[in-house]
Amino acid sequence: HRLLVEELPNAEVLVVSNREPYIHNRTDDGISLQTPASGLVSALEPVMRATGGTWIAHGSGSADRDTVDRNDKVAVPPADPTYMLRRVWLSDEEQDGYYYGLANEGLWPLCHIAFVRPTFREEDWRQYKLVNERFADAVVQEADRDDPIVLVQDYHFALLPRMIRRRLPRATVITFWHIPWPNAETISICPWREEIIDGLLGSTILGFHTRFHCNNFLEAADRFMESRIDREHGSVTLAGHETMVRAYPISIEWPPAALAHQPPVDECREAVKRRFGLPAQARIAVGVERFDYTKGILDRLHAVDDLLIRHPEWKGRFVYLQAASPTRSKLGAYSALQAETVRLAEEVNARHGSADYKPIVLSIRHHEPTEVFEIFRAADICIVSSLHDGMNLVAKEFVAARDDNQGVLVLSGFAGASRELSEALIVNPYDTRSMGAMMDAALRMPAAEQRERMRLMRDLVRQRNVYRWAAQMLLDAARLRKRAGILAGA
Ligand code: F6P
Repeated sequence: HRLLVEELPNAEVLVVSNREPYIHNRTDDGISLQTPASGLVSALEPVMRATGGTWIAHGSGSADRDTVDRNDKVAVPPADPTYMLRRVWLSDEEQDGYYYGLANEGLWPLCHIAFVRPTFREEDWRQYKLVNERFADAVVQEADRDDPIVLVQDYHFALLPRMIRRRLPRATVITFWHIPWPNAETISICPWREEIIDGLLGSTILGFHTRFHCNNFLEAADRFMESRIDREHGSVTLAGHETMVRAYPISIEWPPAALAHQPPVDECREAVKRRFGLPAQARIAVGVERFDYTKGILDRLHAVDDLLIRHPEWKGRFVYLQAASPTRSKLGAYSALQAETVRLAEEVNARHGSADYKPIVLSIRHHEPTEVFEIFRAADICIVSSLHDGMNLVAKEFVAARDDNQGVLVLSGFAGASRELSEALIVNPYDTRSMGAMMDAALRMPAAEQRERMRLMRDLVRQRNVYRWAAQMLLDAARLRKRAGILAGA
């Protein structure tokens, strides 16, 4: 907030994302509020609480419309409003083409290189363009000034920066791509690669989690566009407009709101054991994520199987709790993953379990942030074994949850978070045997070593929190705005 006042006086901040930070659902008892399982939302929401402004998102709850006024706007957070939420309503046709189709059957598998073949349909592309236009309309409607700062979020809106630039040429558009950007060979599969890159180059600043993803983007811009690339400073100039391409590793708020009022770790452990029916003496490993094929859930269950085959001494003394929140279940790849996960868990449980012991416990439903933090505090080990992930904020949340400096993080080397959290036990999620061995090592790690590793990771996340992430982008924006002002004056 201070940064906005000092460096960007009179600035107007608009955020655009597909997912909204508060979802209102109709239930038998009235309307209930849900916080979506989304790294993007957990990162951006505290920033918006601090800066104020307007967040434009797709209204997805069954009772969202009941909570908005005639302008489709509502003040949030509901308990203590500090910014406005503007909903854009999408038809089923738009949602099918833009969200399920192009974004999640096309760009999602393309960018994650997840061995799920990307699907590109003309009709999805048409809806994607239309929906991007609809959000551009919303930005223009919401902007009170001709030079707002617009924070465009993620792969749902690759075309939006260019659309905003055309209609509000003086806007500062900061686009953040929350998922990986693959190499130029992979991007070349997409039939609309030029349009997507051109759309993103409408941004003033284009951010990725890692330097590696920035380099991949520069390579693609160089290969597919008539642009000038400055690799040293990280920028692309297309038709006289320069876009800065920078790495801004995303993070979480510190301390996280969901950590407030959490009971001591021992009490969390007892509560989690009771709720999920875990054996009293069991050591607990947890995985918490959206039910997504990029998260490596099946390979992790195979690793648990491997652990119990090679180290039968853990039978009856070890449980793996998988909390998985269903999303995008309408898509075949997602529903198939859910069915296969249930089948595999039953198979492993039949092999190693008994009437009163199940080594794998699945909790397939939505988990609110306070429950997620309670699960983290109950765990001996947290396993984040994504096959590919832009950053992965679960890893950082686990570290933030452990104010007792205990617990071991097992982290995929293919998650952006592994570049920062080097004190985690880094694994190759495809190598289930070594992942099983790593679980065994984690279970045997002395408390003093856990403390030392956890302390270092907590220091890092505390310092590189999400306010710093947002501040770095906004400071770069402030610098560019001042430079443009000076040049205009000259
Ligand atoms: O950052 C990745 C992301 O796809 C976000 O865009 C999204 O909010 C989150 O993961 C959850 O996915 P979804 O909104 O499709 O449920």
